[in-house]
Amino acid sequence: MFAVKKEFELANVHEGLVIGLLDKQEKFAGNLAKLDAEFNGQLTELVKSGDISAKLKSISKVHSFGKIGSKRVWFVGLGKEKELTFEKLKEAFGKVFKNVTANKLEETAIYLDSFITEELDGLDAAHALSEALALATYQFEGYKQKSNEPEKRIEQLNVYSELFAEEDVQVSLSVGYAFGKAANSARTLVNTPGNLLTATDMANYAMELGAKYDFEVEILEKAEIEKLGMGAFLAVNQGSTEPPKMIVLKYQGKDEWKDVIGLVGKGITFDTGGYSIKTKAGIVGMKTDMGGAAAVLGAMEIIGETRPEQNVVAVIPSTDNMISGGAFKPDDVITSMSGKTIEVLNTDAEGRLVLADAVTYAKHHGAEYLVDVATLTGGVITALGLHTTGAMTNHESLYEQVLEASMEAGEQMWLLPLFESEKERVRNSKVADLNNSPGSEGHALVAGAFIGEFAEGTPWVHLDIAGTAVTSKAYDLGPAGATGVMTRTLALFVERFEPIEK
Ligand code: BES
Ligand code: MN
Ligand code: ZN
Repeated sequence: MFAVKKEFELANVHEGLVIGLLDKQEKFAGNLAKLDAEFNGQLTELVKSGDISAKLKSISKVHSFGKIGSKRVWFVGLGKEKELTFEKLKEAFGKVFKNVTANKLEETAIYLDSFITEELDGLDAAHALSEALALATYQFEGYKQKSNEPEKRIEQLNVYSELFAEEDVQVSLSVGYAFGKAANSARTLVNTPGNLLTATDMANYAMELGAKYDFEVEILEKAEIEKLGMGAFLAVNQGSTEPPKMIVLKYQGKDEWKDVIGLVGKGITFDTGGYSIKTKAGIVGMKTDMGGAAAVLGAMEIIGETRPEQNVVAVIPSTDNMISGGAFKPDDVITSMSGKTIEVLNTDAEGRLVLADAVTYAKHHGAEYLVDVATLTGGVITALGLHTTGAMTNHESLYEQVLEASMEAGEQMWLLPLFESEKERVRNSKVADLNNSPGSEGHALVAGAFIGEFAEGTPWVHLDIAGTAVTSKAYDLGPAGATGVMTRTLALFVERFEPIEK
């Protein structure tokens, strides 16, 4: 995919050449001055006339008419140097690679050194460009009998850098690409419909991932789940003809199995709501209710590629939430693996039930820090909209680490409160220790509070991605559909994780 080259020769033959333009560059300098000279100074004219713009994310394509080896030159506006962030740079790359792909190019060159600023060096730029390339050109194939002509995509990217060492650039390119590819794997899982991605399929996928990256894999079958007393997880599965799977992947990057991070992802392959059934409009799209599981699996893919010095256990409770004569019902009382009993008031509040047992099981596997990710509530959409993941925590400094990672990944999150008042609401039941749905007021908060009852004293962060897992509009770093949100945040969190003094 990537070939890194030192000598930037304008005579080299390429289908396209991509160049970054900071807005201070009224005058072309260095290699860009040479380029301008080959064009008899006309590039300067085009900048003056505004036909080539340095405005952030503005894309201008110029044909070279044989004046240089590359057939076309794409100029990417980078705006003001001081205002260019890593995230904006990624978006600019995303936009230009979408444009290059739309022009059906399979090969192109890029002049890396034209994308660096005082803040962002060639290695940052290399990471940004390869991650953006993977993310922006992602497509979900779908199942149409007749797809249009096979999509042409960039197969070969020649990266020129005179200023940075080839090997270093290559490493950054590979890491960035691994991040993008893993988020794409998560997107594909989320985009796949429930009939084609059952809990069994998800378990098989996890096993393949485990084999590829040498993770320890444990798939608990229904009988073992029963033996372990995971009554909350089982209740949700009760109406289904598809067997449940508790999926566990372990990655050991330290000599000893200590300071273990537990990543827990909601893996509901389809959520009908059960007897508290969803409306016919509300049920559409519920194939995406395993977005948390997808993010955790995506993060494990990055972890498998980059192999950080950390210990991680990933736990994914997977089932669909269906209706049948045997399905669980409102008023049922169930017993979770922790021993806590739960009065079911709403079968559509199923995510917190499966996560309750998954969190308990992650602790059984030695998790000392927990992060759960789930498409948990419509309430988080009401609270924060479609661009911000809602977080909750019982441990501020663990949350700080997750937040830092999210900022580095460019995935927005905001902390919601976990007050005693909401803990009391989930503890309010006449017949059981807890209830799963104490009413719709602030229901993102009570859903999080419910999971917190199972984290107990273990430092824990909860991430509600109901609003962010899917987008209805294409954006610079991807098409409409699944976003793969939190894949990269989780991976960065793991990579940078510092155990907390106890
Ligand atoms: N999977 C849904 C949450 C959801 C809603 C995800 C919209 C994506 C988009 C979850 O299981 C659910 O049904 N939550 C209920 C909770 C309620 C019954 C307390 C909700 O949000 O309405
Ligand atoms: Mn539900
Ligand atoms: Zn759900």
